[in-house]
Amino acid sequence: MALQDKDRIFTNLYGYQSWSLDAARARGDWDNTKALLERGQDAIIQEIKDSGLRGRGGAGFPTGMKWSFMPKESRDGRPSFLVINADESEPGSCKDREIIRHDPHKLIEGALVAGFAMRARAAYIYIRGEYIREAETLQAAVNEAYAAGLVGKNASGSGYDFDVFVHRGAGAYICGEETAMIESIEGKKGQPRLKPPFPAGAGLYGCPTTVNNVESIAVAPTILRRGASWFSSFGRENNKGTKLFQISGHVNKPCVVEEEMSIPFSELIEKHCGGIRGGKDNLLAVIPGGSSVPLVPAEQIWDAPMDFDGLRAVGSGLGTAAVIVMDKSTDIVRAISRLSYFYKHESCGQCTPCREGTGWMWRVMERLREGDASVDEIDMLWNVTKQVEGHTICALGDAAAWPIQGLIRHFRPEIERRIAEKGAMREAAE
Ligand SMILES: Cc1cc2nc3c(=O)[nH]c(=O)nc-3n(C[C@H](O)[C@H](O)[C@H](O)COP(=O)(O)O)c2cc1C
Ligand code: SF4
Repeated sequence: MALQDKDRIFTNLYGYQSWSLDAARARGDWDNTKALLERGQDAIIQEIKDSGLRGRGGAGFPTGMKWSFMPKESRDGRPSFLVINADESEPGSCKDREIIRHDPHKLIEGALVAGFAMRARAAYIYIRGEYIREAETLQAAVNEAYAAGLVGKNASGSGYDFDVFVHRGAGAYICGEETAMIESIEGKKGQPRLKPPFPAGAGLYGCPTTVNNVESIAVAPTILRRGASWFSSFGRENNKGTKLFQISGHVNKPCVVEEEMSIPFSELIEKHCGGIRGGKDNLLAVIPGGSSVPLVPAEQIWDAPMDFDGLRAVGSGLGTAAVIVMDKSTDIVRAISRLSYFYKHESCGQCTPCREGTGWMWRVMERLREGDASVDEIDMLWNVTKQVEGHTICALGDAAAWPIQGLIRHFRPEIERRIAEKGAMREAAE
């Protein structure tokens, strides 16, 4: 059964109402936040753990557990920080944007609740540079929250001091990686750090830091108000809660929608997107979690549960739940080659397998697109993706390798067909 309106967390996702504080309050945000904080840090973290919430930024790390890694007290006087990841640069992803422009107070209240639970002194919301209007709305909402005493000194009358800063990025995908984001906030070039140390030990300005996605933070106050068992009543074991899905591409009505985790792909598409363009039989493949995850061919995705485990079972992943639908009009080799170009362009260049590998893979992909290659180069490309995967400082290397692996795994005959066709044309010309 699909999610009912009464169980939606993001009740202003489409901006039918105002984003402002008064309207947010009427929707239930900032309703006695002090009482939520009075439950105490450990109780809040436990409730989030019990809810089964897993990070909504891509990797799906359990959120409550992540918060529990933060120190309970500062032994050397260093403060702790919460960094909220609003970089949202993964091709296909467009959910955090909707939260920020239509429901920013959910995020700001979440920042206070989560920051308090982690004993953080402040939250930095790092928003991608291209989100100009969204950053303006967010800043205006933060100003409203300060003016109303909800954040700042004695936030919400709790006796706890908590600041919220909006930090604008300059449009680099790599700044979405958590340690690159920390570098960028510090005013340096956005390049990922080697781990360890992990941010919970030494993050922003060398202080204990947790980085969380916008959606992970924005759902926290509602989970506390309605209870862990309410949130965990949605979805399957290990894949709990409601989730924002962003469906783009060849559906009749692309949309962002909050749904129950684990909803089958077919139901998501039929119920919210008006079906596949040209009908079910016209579906070619789907990239279910943003451009970094491997594609899934039509016959395998149709009944798949849209969650972490369901998509792993078909060789892909939930990622950010940015569902890119491709019908049979798609030049699938060209589509993946375009993604390869993206990763080549966004590589920060620190590590050799990524810096050299992303460019090399893109150039081969371009030749495969034209059929201007030999069949053994497909295997060579596969091997190179394996040499990049898992051999880099950050996961951008994996993200560049996986879409190509998905293509070769499922569409090798199509690549070979192009090579044969080009070969035949060449022979005919000679
Ligand atoms: C290249 C790269 C880009 C990323 N971009 C984003 C992003 O735009 N937003 C995001 O929330 N996480 C992004 N991540 C994941 C973050 O590093 C981090 O895991 C996430 O913000 C943690 O939040 P969560 O635990 O709430 O999911 C990216 C990771 C990599 C490797
Ligand atoms: S994997 Fe790529 S993006 Fe990540 S640190 Fe290495 S070079 Fe930079």
